[in-house]
Amino acid sequence: MFDTLAPMQNLNQQFNLIRQSATVAMADRILALKASGRNIVGLQVGDPDFGTAPAIADAAFQAMQNGLTHYGPSRGYPDLRTAVASKLKRDEGVSYDPASEILVTHGGIHAYYLAMQSVLNPGDDVLIPDPSWATHSNMAIMLRGSVIRVPAPAENGFIPQFESWLRALTPQTRVIVLNYPSNPTGAYPTRAYLKKLQDFAKEHNLWIVSDEVYGSLYYGERPTCAAAFEGAKERTLLVNSLSKSYAMTGWRVGYLAAPARVIENAIKAGQNSITCVAPFIQKAAAFALTDPAIQQVTADMRAAYSRRRDLVLRLAHELESEKVKVIPPQGAFYFFLDLRALNMPAVEMCERILDEEGVGLVPGSAFGEEGEGFIRMTIAASDEDVEAGFRKIVKWAENVQR
Ligand SMILES: Cc1ncc(COP(=O)(O)O)c(C=O)c1O
Repeated sequence: MFDTLAPMQNLNQQFNLIRQSATVAMADRILALKASGRNIVGLQVGDPDFGTAPAIADAAFQAMQNGLTHYGPSRGYPDLRTAVASKLKRDEGVSYDPASEILVTHGGIHAYYLAMQSVLNPGDDVLIPDPSWATHSNMAIMLRGSVIRVPAPAENGFIPQFESWLRALTPQTRVIVLNYPSNPTGAYPTRAYLKKLQDFAKEHNLWIVSDEVYGSLYYGERPTCAAAFEGAKERTLLVNSLSKSYAMTGWRVGYLAAPARVIENAIKAGQNSITCVAPFIQKAAAFALTDPAIQQVTADMRAAYSRRRDLVLRLAHELESEKVKVIPPQGAFYFFLDLRALNMPAVEMCERILDEEGVGLVPGSAFGEEGEGFIRMTIAASDEDVEAGFRKIVKWAENVQR
């Protein structure tokens, strides 16, 4: 029996600094409503609504049948690392040595974890734009870093003004975390801006950890990879995965591309936590990255997201809401809708839209202070759900009583 008189054992105090994810709380609420029989339009997830291409699953099955069901190399199979290097050269124009500069990871989140663990010391300051995906800050805090948020307000296209980086800089700053195209805003900066940021990082001897998991999802000019500048590779840690670009979120496979001495640390961290990524999944990932027909599947998914993006922009034009302002995303598969006109906390808005209209969303405040008054709506859902959900949000906002 649990002895209430026993002294409490110490827990890791660092976790007291992390809030329980608002996304998880919303997901629980949505599940409970669905279980009670309510029809919910789910526009809260960051998971492609497309299945993984069957040929990728076949490649994994074939590898299992060939006996690849045991431990594999911690660094990742050479053919997958070569495939990653070819992808980075093909799509981003950056050359990496597959032997020493690439590590296969358990998805993008694990690549980010290993990247941060490899370079961060306790007490180091980490600069992270606000709004941004909560994991970027949470991970830095778990590793005993100190997070400084750099405002990236809607009025500046969700990109920090350059002076804001300068203002945030301290003598303890070691790392800048970037995520472009951004979750939740879809924004990404110009090539010239990134170049200036790289110069800033060089001048102040900072690492740039760049999470580019949405790199293949863009609607205009291709976003520039953070490492694609003369000399930038030496201080840039690229985080990427197959989750979003190949609809492989459940496969848990990604990669870190970084200077060899960073990769050496990351291998130690990976070896001592997960040992290796499942070999048959690595084979499927190598196939996905290199097979020409699969690259076409990715292009087709991008076209579908683009069509849904146009659908929302058309609806916004048609409905002409004063309450719901739509900022066209440049990439990723989210709209960060501006409902600040309602002057209501984003959490309350999302709870009420869920209860009153049956639409699942994520409050913008889950991404930082600059996200307050915004809600994140995914377009990784059917055209019908995107249209029905957006119409309901506008109807709710136009008629809401406080
Ligand atoms: C910005 C960002 N990075 C990383 C991830 C995690 O990706 P993965 O499934 O590859 O771990 C997500 C997932 O939503 C994300 O939004």
